[in-house]
Amino acid sequence: MKKFIFAANWKMNKTPKESQEFVEEFSSQLDPKLQNQVILLAPALSLSTLRESLEGTQIGLGAQNCFYEKSGAFTGENSPWVLSEMGVQFVLIGHSERRSLFHEDDELLAKKMKAAESFQLTSILCVGENLTEREQNKTLEVIELQLRNALQEHSKKANFILAYEPIWAIGTGKVANPGQANEAQKHLKSVLEDVLGSVAEDVPVLYGGSVNSKNAKELSLEPSIDGFLIGGASLEPSSLLDIVNSVKA
Ligand code: PGA
Repeated sequence: MKKFIFAANWKMNKTPKESQEFVEEFSSQLDPKLQNQVILLAPALSLSTLRESLEGTQIGLGAQNCFYEKSGAFTGENSPWVLSEMGVQFVLIGHSERRSLFHEDDELLAKKMKAAESFQLTSILCVGENLTEREQNKTLEVIELQLRNALQEHSKKANFILAYEPIWAIGTGKVANPGQANEAQKHLKSVLEDVLGSVAEDVPVLYGGSVNSKNAKELSLEPSIDGFLIGGASLEPSSLLDIVNSVKA
């Protein structure tokens, strides 16, 4: 059976010290026999400290963004090469906040997907429609295009994770109902199959957008949901543990 994935997107929260304290509390209460995968996606400034804190645990470490070049005159950017050398395993690509606040477009994201792959980082590629697109019945069209465009320069191997995050559900408390999530997730899986062929089933497809301990169990029962990308509810050890435990139970 596939591992269910819990990817915690901390966004621009927590100091290195707070990250360390989170791991101490969280890992001491995490079931050591847990078969599922927990990943912490932390701000770049805390990754070094977290790498040390996570030593000896099964918890994965990820960044929230990276640039597409290895090194050079790119002031302020984070190199995928350095992330990889630091022991970071995952990187979020194309989160809707990066797309909207930092104007990251599909062409840039395709380059980032390629760069992450060449430095052996597992990308977590985010796609999702906004409220207007949903109301205009364009959801499937929009997320399909985002996915196809992001894979333009990719080797088409099953070496990444996909996350469906409807923008109207991010940080709003409005979770997609299981039917809405399932329809989008299933469509993404069919596009993956078209692009990747038979290995497509090895790409986990996560759901993100207001996941919490109250809705996690029901959502996890949808066969098309292979894990969650969790923002607000991942900031406290107890609330992330509640989600992990509710799915396990
Ligand atoms: P949320 O954020 O769980 O707070 O809605 C999810 C995300 O932005 O990845």
